[in-house]
Order: sequence, then C-alpha cells, then structure tokens
Amino acid sequence: MASASRAFSRALRTSASPLRTTARATRVAAVSHPLRQQWRRGYASGEKPGEEYEGNPTGMLVGAGALLLGAAGYGLYTYQPELFGKAAAKATGPFTPKYEDYQKVYDAIAKALEEKDDYDDGSYGPVLLRLAWHASGTYDALTGTGGSNGATMRFAPEGDHGANAGLKAARDFLEPIKEKFPWISYSDLWILSGVAAIQEMQGPKIPFRPGRADRDLSFCTPDGRLPDATKGASHIRAIFGRMGFDDREMVALSGAHALGRCHTDRSGFDGPWTFSPTTMTNDYYKLLLEEKWAWKKWNGPKQFEDVKTKSLMMLPTDMEIIKDKEFRKHAERYAKDSDVFFKEFSDAVLRLFELGVPFQQSEEQRWTFKSSFDQK
Ligand code: HEM
Repeated sequence: MASASRAFSRALRTSASPLRTTARATRVAAVSHPLRQQWRRGYASGEKPGEEYEGNPTGMLVGAGALLLGAAGYGLYTYQPELFGKAAAKATGPFTPKYEDYQKVYDAIAKALEEKDDYDDGSYGPVLLRLAWHASGTYDALTGTGGSNGATMRFAPEGDHGANAGLKAARDFLEPIKEKFPWISYSDLWILSGVAAIQEMQGPKIPFRPGRADRDLSFCTPDGRLPDATKGASHIRAIFGRMGFDDREMVALSGAHALGRCHTDRSGFDGPWTFSPTTMTNDYYKLLLEEKWAWKKWNGPKQFEDVKTKSLMMLPTDMEIIKDKEFRKHAERYAKDSDVFFKEFSDAVLRLFELGVPFQQSEEQRWTFKSSFDQK
C-alpha cells in the first residue's frame, strides 16, 4: 500500500500528463465509459455471450444503436460541452490542490504532533523545524542552487552530510502524512511541517506558498553549506550571507534555538537551550544576555553551560550572538520585546523557506494556515 501510493505520487510528480488531463481526454473518457457499460450490460443479459447474435439480432441492433447514440453524444459534447453541464468536467478534471487542501495537510501534521508526544521533550516540533531549515539552508544566491525546492535530502549524499544527522526522525514522522496526501511534494510537505511546527509550538504565523517540486539526486548540494557550530561570527556571516541574509535576520533566525535540543548521537553536543524547548519564546536571547555561561567540563565538543543550573547549553556560534557588537544589538531588541522578535522571526523564516523556489503564486497570494489553537 505504502509503495503503491508512493509510486502513484511519483507518477504525479514526474509525469505532467495525469495532472494536466486535457479537456479532450476528459471528453473521450466521459463518452467511452457509457459505451463500455452498454457492452457489458449486453453480455450480462444473454445466456452466453456468443448466443446473442445467433439467436436474436436485438443485441446487435441495440449495440449499433448505442454506438450511434454515443457518436452523436460525442459530437455534441465536443462542439457544445455546455449542454452537459459542468459536473462531468468537474468529476474527471485534474486535481488542483487549493488552500483548503493544504490546510488539511497542516491539520494532519498538527494532529500527529499532538498524538506522538513520546519523543524527546514531548514533541517532534523542533526536529521538523530543523528539517525545514536544513532543506532551505543549502541555498546559494550566487549560483541559484540548493534551497527547499527539491527535497534532495531524501538521497544518500545529502542525507548523510554530518549536519543532517538525526533528521531521518523528522522525515519518517512525515511519511504517513505523505501517504495520506500523495499529491503534495516532499519539498512542500517538509516546509509546511516547519510552518506547522512553529505555529503549533505557539510561535508566530508563517505565511506559506506551495510550488516546490521534488528533484532527483543530481540536485543534491555539496557538503559544507550548513553552519558549523564550532565557528565564529565571520563564519555565521559567510554562511547566511551566501543565502542573502543580513545581520538582523541572522540573529532573528538564531532564535529558533529557543526550541529543541542537541543530541550527543547527532551533533555530539548535548542539552536544550531553554527551559521550555517545545514552546516558541524569546527566552533564547533573555538567557544568553541574563545568565552566566561557562565552558562545560566534559569529554564532548566545546560548548557552554549555564553556571546556575548547569542544565542549559549554548553552542559556540550561539555565544557569538552576544559577543559580536552588531549581532548583540538585535539580541537585546528581541530579549526586550517578544512581539518584535516574533514579527522579525516570521519574516526571516518565510524568506528562508522560499529561497530558490520558482513559485507560480505571487507574494500577495501567500496563505496563512489556522493553527489548532485558532480552531479550538
Ligand atoms: C549558526 C547557525 C546554526 C548552527 C551552528 C546550528 C546548529 C545546531 C546544532 C548543532 C543543533 C543540534 C542538533 C542535534 O544534535 O540534534 C541544532 C538544533 C536545532 N536547530 Fe540549529 N543551528 C543554527 C541555526 C538554526 C536556524 C537558523 C534554525 C531555524 C530557523 C535552527 C533550528 C534548530 C532547531 C529547531 C534545533 C533542535 C532540533 C531538535 O531538537 O532535534 N538552527 N542546531
């Protein structure tokens, strides 16, 4: 079943024809169907198929009549389709998913997030957001390569990049949703799941546009495009600058580390950044600025821990957000005002998720999905 629906969705993605069923094909289908029905009914009414003609020519005559009627109908449908009403075309026409269809996918992700609460700190939300960010964060503005269009992390070269360790958990979480809605591309699904993760963890609304198409493994990006947590401010600027972001956006995006945690079996680092890793807040900035941080004494990679409780962590790159003067002024703004952070985080994430995608829908046609809080 799973492979059948995957094959179906692959067919939908790779071949344009089933989606773009032409009006002509629709018409032929509408006409040939009653004809086929007619012949079948003819067989069913006789004792044996062969006897219909020999004993009684009525079957033959009925068949010929039906053929004539069918041909006349076909001509009429071809030249005056309005006589048949819109219903026929609607029933067999191509499926073009609309806002409501994407909201259904959103709802399915939100439901799964609520149900599968036996993971990590009680939510797959953070790892879904990390998946969406790592799919998008490979973008290179200069060559126009990488970005969320393609979902190339499905393939070994990119999926095996060190930075992507552990993201299989997120991809596997989404597989049943992909099977339920085979028409959505993996690329759109991953980004929609990032949007849902943020909104369901009480973050800001992130407007969304569909239009990402899955691509084959020849579009995998080379290793080294995602940031290295052991490096300094110039590395952060080089990585995010390559995608086209400025200092303000880099600091806003880093606030995602209010969510989730590091895992020793993934990045090698350990622990959460905040006390509420499944709720979106501006605590990342508050804690960075207000707590005392010291190098953690352990055998793992160099990371910071809070002196007071020793239960929180910061990566070397996180610490750059308050060490660098330009970065710090934005961190201070966000620590002071959660609304400002939410607004600028939403704008930056929206841009991140859209990097390198050739959309059909204009920027004015972005959709905002209802979260489960709106619907309660
Ligand atoms: C300098 C930039 C960044 C660096 C070096 C960095 C590095 C890391 C590392 C090492 C982890 C731990 C992975 C693990 O062990 O499971 C992590 C987790 C995470 N990152 Fe980042 N990250 C950066 C930027 C971002 C951005 C821009 C976002 C989103 C907009 C983001 C969202 C997350 C989330 C949500 C997690 C938690 C995942 C989980 O709980 O499984 N990060 N990041």
